[in-house]
Amino acid sequence: MALFITFEGGEGSGKTLQARSLYTRLLKAAIPALLTHEPGGTALGRKLARWLKWSQDTGISPLTELLMFNASRAQLVKEVIKPNLEEGTVVICDRYADSTIAYQGYGRGLNLETVKTINQMAASIKPDLTLLLDIPVEQGFARKRDKRRDRFEQEDIAFHRRVRQGYLKLAAEEPERWLVINASQSKAKIRQIIWQRVRQLLSR
Ligand code: TMP
Repeated sequence: MALFITFEGGEGSGKTLQARSLYTRLLKAAIPALLTHEPGGTALGRKLARWLKWSQDTGISPLTELLMFNASRAQLVKEVIKPNLEEGTVVICDRYADSTIAYQGYGRGLNLETVKTINQMAASIKPDLTLLLDIPVEQGFARKRDKRRDRFEQEDIAFHRRVRQGYLKLAAEEPERWLVINASQSKAKIRQIIWQRVRQLLSR
């Protein structure tokens, strides 16, 4: 049964690990599944991701950033997400359009309606379930082992707090789609919470 599941969260929230572990669990249960991520997931997306995360060019405008994330997403939807959903695969995406609302909208301060309109134009497929791994900003950063900081990680704490609050607002606006998980809990507990919700959706 096709399901589109996205993982969202701030830096160091552990969402990548949880996305991987859900993917493995689905495969073990013989459920066709695919794991992809944003930015990236296609040849074009990987090029854009490198630029978006690691470019030293500080003159990049927030609008340019918004369009680049959406260019990467449009390609990912066309090449990967849509065809797999059409085949009945469970598609798991590590970050998706809500990252753009949280980071470019709430974080960078772009007009939220503009962000949502561009998101909608680039990718009209909506997730069935979005898992938000929520963690206080300082705690998330303290968990990061890789000390190299990309363009987003180099932003100040106020930026990351706005991102976190943005996510929580989005989740509150659409509680039927979002599941907010306290990411300070043990990995095993988080895995269990996620699996319970996914199993529920699969048995619908
Ligand atoms: P990650 O690969 O470690 O998740 O890093 C991706 C970074 O890009 C992360 O800091 C969040 C940021 N990002 C945006 O700002 N907007 C977006 O739309 C997406 C998908 C990611």
